[in-house]
Amino acid sequence: MIPKETIEEIRKKADIVKVVSEYVQLRKRGKNYLGLCPFHSEKTPSFTVSEEKQIFHCFGCNEGGNAFSFIMKIENISFVEAAEDLGAKLDINVPKSTNYELSKGDKDKLFQVTLMAGQYFQTCLNGNDGEIARKYLNQRNITDKTRELFYLGVAPIGWDNLFKHLIARGVSPALIEKSGLILAREGGGGYYDRFRNRLIFPIVDQRDRLVAFGGRSLGDEEPKYLNSSDTQIYHKGETLFGLNLTKDNIKKHKTAIMVEGYFDLITPFQNGVQNIVATLGTALTISQCKLLARYADTIVLAFDADAAGGVAAERSIELLRDQGLKVKVAQLISGKDPDEAIQKSGLAGFSKCIESALPFLEFRIKRILARYNLAEIEARAKALQEIATILGQESDPYIQKEYAKLAASWLKTDADTILTTIKRSQHYSYGGRNSLQRMTEKPGSRIEEAEINLIALAAQSKEALETLKQRMSVEDFKLAPVQAIVALIFASDFKDDDSPLHFLLDNLEDEEARRFLSRNIMDKPLGDTENKEKILNDCLMVLNNERQKHKVAGLKLAINQAEKSGQSKEVAKLLVELNNEISW
Ligand code: UTP
Ligand code: MN
Repeated sequence: MIPKETIEEIRKKADIVKVVSEYVQLRKRGKNYLGLCPFHSEKTPSFTVSEEKQIFHCFGCNEGGNAFSFIMKIENISFVEAAEDLGAKLDINVPKSTNYELSKGDKDKLFQVTLMAGQYFQTCLNGNDGEIARKYLNQRNITDKTRELFYLGVAPIGWDNLFKHLIARGVSPALIEKSGLILAREGGGGYYDRFRNRLIFPIVDQRDRLVAFGGRSLGDEEPKYLNSSDTQIYHKGETLFGLNLTKDNIKKHKTAIMVEGYFDLITPFQNGVQNIVATLGTALTISQCKLLARYADTIVLAFDADAAGGVAAERSIELLRDQGLKVKVAQLISGKDPDEAIQKSGLAGFSKCIESALPFLEFRIKRILARYNLAEIEARAKALQEIATILGQESDPYIQKEYAKLAASWLKTDADTILTTIKRSQHYSYGGRNSLQRMTEKPGSRIEEAEINLIALAAQSKEALETLKQRMSVEDFKLAPVQAIVALIFASDFKDDDSPLHFLLDNLEDEEARRFLSRNIMDKPLGDTENKEKILNDCLMVLNNERQKHKVAGLKLAINQAEKSGQSKEVAKLLVELNNEISW
């Protein structure tokens, strides 16, 4: 790991306004700077940078942190890499990290080897080895121009063409193995190529770096598609195919069409649909959703028109919604996937499917209805329950009511019946959204406000932090992000020269908690006020009262129960405890 002093030196030298300005145009507004957020698309600036506190926060998408978090997020790199990047810009010598992670130099070598392999595959496609693959691409109507744009290639027939090619150019077997391009033979007898006799799709990340490959079998070999394994430069769950070519267009449209396969992206792209990404057939991950949320605010799912595609869409909806994205689901009518849809009915047919994509609630309701025999009253009752559960998660009462009306017409009942069922089912379960959203939706109660103020104070003053440590414990806090922050405070040893705020921002693993912190610090000038002490004591009082109230209520309940079951000794013991609490 990088020594702490180096991190501190970078922190002192790196001015967040300068760091951010390389990516965002900032304007001074009062004490702070304001700009258009690079992490979501917006027309009026809500991205705020505080020079004084050296933090940023976007009040639109709720992203926030310090200079390190900003670089990590915008470049999609680790803390260590962000420190190296910043260090290099500031002429600070950052000792190479020697941990389990490859050092930056080694990573560069992996990028190089992968690029060399990509060039080799591309050359093969244009030469004698590429004849069959070229025919295949022709058959699938892929033009030469598209072929070049996507750097398509071919891995020739044979066991070790690529291996020999790279060795001849001085690359070590160990490095090639780390790049995932070769596999060791069983029994230790050398290596063989992972990709053989396959059409090659290079996978390029959103920073335009070639990181991995996918290969489609040209013969009968199974599997149909083969992918690079995860390496130090490729993490399958964090990459989206095509994004390097489509991100600007996605940003412009604010909408991304999401498909499953290589050809499902390439064929529409060739036909002019250029706001599109592919998941490559695997289950969508949170990282991929976050990556997309940097460019889009609406996602149109265009998955295969089969049962698996429906399930994948259902699963993806939640994940995307959790990142604040709007979601629609396209129904492909003229073919089993987007590639086929275009081959069969052209761009017009495909575009029509995209334009008439269903809002996700309609999609989910229709899927429920399709599973039941609606001629039966009992089946309709079950469908009604399921629909109520889904509509119960919708926070906008107007949207909820309108969908209740729609569902009612399909279920041959009235909207009130559905709305009543929603209320009843909500009574038994807590709201679906996460705590942060709940918080921003309603004005915080006195207790929540006390928790927030206390954390804001502790992050900006050592004394407040020490007082918190002495007087409270993690269980005393209700808000999940506050609990995460307090837990970290208790688990850490703060040195004299540590800034608690930046220590917390750098070390909070829970991203929601980090954003919570940047937002509230940006919001509250508490750290500067003169009556800091009074605020601190007020917060502690409110929270202690709350703790006591809970304890008393719990004791009263326990006494009640003990009395009912005739445990007189227990009753006496609890009464003493209760007395102590009340006189405290
Ligand atoms: P599909 O099976 O739907 O294939 O897989 P496809 O994209 O329509 O392929 P073509 O049109 O027959 O060439 C969708 C995606 O799932 C991944 C690939 O990324 C593929 O594009 N996949 C599929 C694999 O990784 N391995 C497989 O064996 C199959
Ligand atoms: Mn296909």
